[in-house]
Amino acid sequence: MLPNILWSALLLAMTTAAQLEPLHTSSRWILDANNKRFKLRCLNWAGHMEAHLPEGLQHQSVDTLAKWVADQGFNCVRLTFSIDMALDQGLKVSDSCSTLAERTGAPADAVADLWSRVKSKNSWIENISVGEAFGHVVDALGEAGLRVILDNHVSKASWCCNLDDGNGWWDEAQVYVDSNSRFFNTTNWVSGLRAMAQFSANHPAVAGIGLRNEIREVPVIQGRDAWYEYIVRGAHAVHDTNPDLLVVMGGTLSSTDISFLRNKPLDRSPFGDKVVYEWHHYTFSPNWIASFKTCSIWKSATVGGTSGFLLQQGKDYTGPLWLSEFGFSQAGGPPERHGIETQEDYDYLTCLVDYVKGNDGDWALWAIQGSYYVRDGVVDKDESWGVLKSDFSDWRNPGVKDVIADLFKVTQGP
Ligand SMILES: *[C@@H]1O[C@H](CO)[C@@H](O)[C@H](O)[C@H]1NC(C)=O
Ligand SMILES: *[C@@H]1O[C@H](CO)[C@@H](O)[C@H](O)[C@H]1NC(C)=O
Repeated sequence: MLPNILWSALLLAMTTAAQLEPLHTSSRWILDANNKRFKLRCLNWAGHMEAHLPEGLQHQSVDTLAKWVADQGFNCVRLTFSIDMALDQGLKVSDSCSTLAERTGAPADAVADLWSRVKSKNSWIENISVGEAFGHVVDALGEAGLRVILDNHVSKASWCCNLDDGNGWWDEAQVYVDSNSRFFNTTNWVSGLRAMAQFSANHPAVAGIGLRNEIREVPVIQGRDAWYEYIVRGAHAVHDTNPDLLVVMGGTLSSTDISFLRNKPLDRSPFGDKVVYEWHHYTFSPNWIASFKTCSIWKSATVGGTSGFLLQQGKDYTGPLWLSEFGFSQAGGPPERHGIETQEDYDYLTCLVDYVKGNDGDWALWAIQGSYYVRDGVVDKDESWGVLKSDFSDWRNPGVKDVIADLFKVTQGP
């Protein structure tokens, strides 16, 4: 007979292990090892910027943040990374911080103070590398019962995603345009994906990897044929390195258009039952603008054709479709809009929630970070779209919980 306390420890260990088993797909569903639906209800967390660290560790301990995310009912985090970090995982966090001022144009004394605040909230970080720090954050999320989908947000660690930031389109693909490809080294991208798939083998909370955030072509001259070629290359880099992972891929036009799969489905057979499609939706998304920002038009004429059709079951193209980013200002507004700042945001959000609720889709809200280590050369730069306040203590606008409440429910399944 084991003493009760040991039984509890053993059971806890077994539950945690079961929670961290690989996910897979069937038809439009993401399923766990017991073939039960695992609906992604995630919060985005930026880790792709110049510090090469998940944001916010100067404000709260990672365990506090992981617990907060889990306590709100999210079951996963979409954690973004750069290829720069993926290929330089051995870089000491202290060295990343000591060059951060120079690399971002932020004041050196403010960056030095930032690093001492990171160490005081998270003393474990002092002597380790950026790869180990990512691992520590992922493991902490896993211990809080959360899964992690890593997302390759950019090649060059920096804010994303402008049309001319050089991270938008594979440099080897035709036609080369410097403004959207100058940092997107295809060889390094493949190596970086492999490196993160390898990393994930040691951090079982990771359930999948997103191949590239918001592919941004120059319309017309950069073609969709390249999408098939390079997405397949990235999918092989992940799947052939770690076949347990979900392989997440978004369409073109900043992940708002994957309509081409209807007539030319992707051959997913090399990747088993692991492929998940993703889409993004904002007030500035082209199909929302094309619908005159009118919910009824968007629902009836636009979203189904650009992405939503993938959820139709029994088709060659059927697959899970994850709304891996949606977001809006969290700055606050009147109570009749649950604190949503503008009427435009409120109309967009309630329309989107209604749509995703209707098909019980998987989703990820953008984003946890209430501020950045450094952005625009400013230390602790506030993020008004951050779900958390600037000090990462709690909801910036608690009213959001009411507006998205229905998305947490699971109403459909295989
Ligand atoms: C980091 O290294 C220094 C110098 O060796 C040591 O004094 C300190 O205790 C270490 N910190 C941690 C958290 O291991
Ligand atoms: C991409 O990076 C590799 C090193 O990994 C380098 O050999 C190659 O020249 C780079 N490609 C371009 C177009 O800069």
